[in-house]
Amino acid sequence: MNTHTNILVVGSGGREHAIAKALSKNPQTRIFAVMNRMNPGIAELAYKVLIASETDPEVVKKFCIEHQIQFACIGPEAPLETGVVDALTAAGVKCVGPAKMAARIETDKSFCRNLMKKYNIPGLPEYHIFHSGTDAEAFLKTTTKEYAIKPSGLTGGKGVRIMGEHLTHEEACRYVHELKGNVVIEERLIGEEFTLQAFVDGTHLVPMPLVQDHKRAFEGDVGPNTGGMGSYTLPDHRFPFVTEEDYNSAFAIMKQTIASLAAEGTPYVGILYGQFMNTAQGPMVIEFNARFGDPEAMNVLSLLTSDFSTLVQAITTGTLDKAEVSFAKKATVCKYLVPEGYPDNPVSGGKLIPGPDNKALCYYASVVREGEFLVTQSSRTMAYVGIGDTLEEAERIAEEAASAVQGPVRHRSDIGTREVLEKRISHMKEIR
Ligand code: AMP
Ligand code: GLY
Repeated sequence: MNTHTNILVVGSGGREHAIAKALSKNPQTRIFAVMNRMNPGIAELAYKVLIASETDPEVVKKFCIEHQIQFACIGPEAPLETGVVDALTAAGVKCVGPAKMAARIETDKSFCRNLMKKYNIPGLPEYHIFHSGTDAEAFLKTTTKEYAIKPSGLTGGKGVRIMGEHLTHEEACRYVHELKGNVVIEERLIGEEFTLQAFVDGTHLVPMPLVQDHKRAFEGDVGPNTGGMGSYTLPDHRFPFVTEEDYNSAFAIMKQTIASLAAEGTPYVGILYGQFMNTAQGPMVIEFNARFGDPEAMNVLSLLTSDFSTLVQAITTGTLDKAEVSFAKKATVCKYLVPEGYPDNPVSGGKLIPGPDNKALCYYASVVREGEFLVTQSSRTMAYVGIGDTLEEAERIAEEAASAVQGPVRHRSDIGTREVLEKRISHMKEIR
């Protein structure tokens, strides 16, 4: 008799390695993986791997049927958008990840903003949707205010430009013509960003520790936006620049968003990622993602002390309210190593030699194993997560591991330092 629970992980990045690692702690779980590219970390943990298009619903479905897979965790947004969850659900596989219609909360920014408006959900910035660059430009010409300019569809976090930060008024008028599809123009929010992720079973939400990501490529938050260079959490799972009231408002916004999706007939099951700007007036929604953040998943899943495989079952059977969910009261610091030249001209094919044994957890991302070497690809390479009783300890562990790697990669040495945290705190004091 098969006493295993077969769980599929879709995706090949650091986030998916963290998901697979969390699942692997349950000896009853048998991990399967569908990935675009062989992630050496996932490959080590998986019982069976299929290298194929993660976004092809038929391919993923066929693999599930062949291997009697009962549950699936969808890592990235792309398979959500192409309907992988819809196909798997039809085949009887229970998915952590929303169906295509509910995933629009991330994949269609116009849908997200209109939903928040329709249901009167707080935290909605002033926004305007335009169907052409000409209309968007005409609007910008009527105002001197600063706005965030966003393509409505998926961009891997790299299509957003902020006036006053990346763009002058004149450049913004030109930029809107470069974008395909609808353009969303939103009030520029000033404050400190934080991420709140939650497990969602359609009705109930269970929050995870707050995380702060670092989008900019270089130390001191300068340079182009990236998928995220690294992130940290604190032992109390909160931040000193987010008050209890801010936190409660953010969580309430997420609950209302889930209730609205259910009211629309598109119930949401999976992970909801809320990106907030904590402003003078409280938290405002920058965006929602329909999945774990990458790198944020590596922080929170490294802290999860309850069994993730059991949680997967609770999420997909609507029983999260009865589930036991706990996270270690420790700090985490995650630092991504990225190829030199990332994000604009990443050097692939670089050979890496990891440093001596260390206390950090290592998650592989866009990297392949070739004999004794790890070889860089064109995206974020691998991440180290330090865990400690204090932020300082966690940072030191991650920094030591990241800086010991030899080869054409770099990382941000400032992520998780006390200095950066103090900067966030004083910025928040300034605007409040
Ligand atoms: P997104 O892809 O929507 O997460 O945007 C990428 C980054 O742009 C965010 O992490 C923020 O730093 C910034 N951003 C997005 N929207 C706004 C906004 N309305 N005001 C200020 N910054 C923003
Ligand atoms: N780290 C941001 C994201 O996953 O979208």
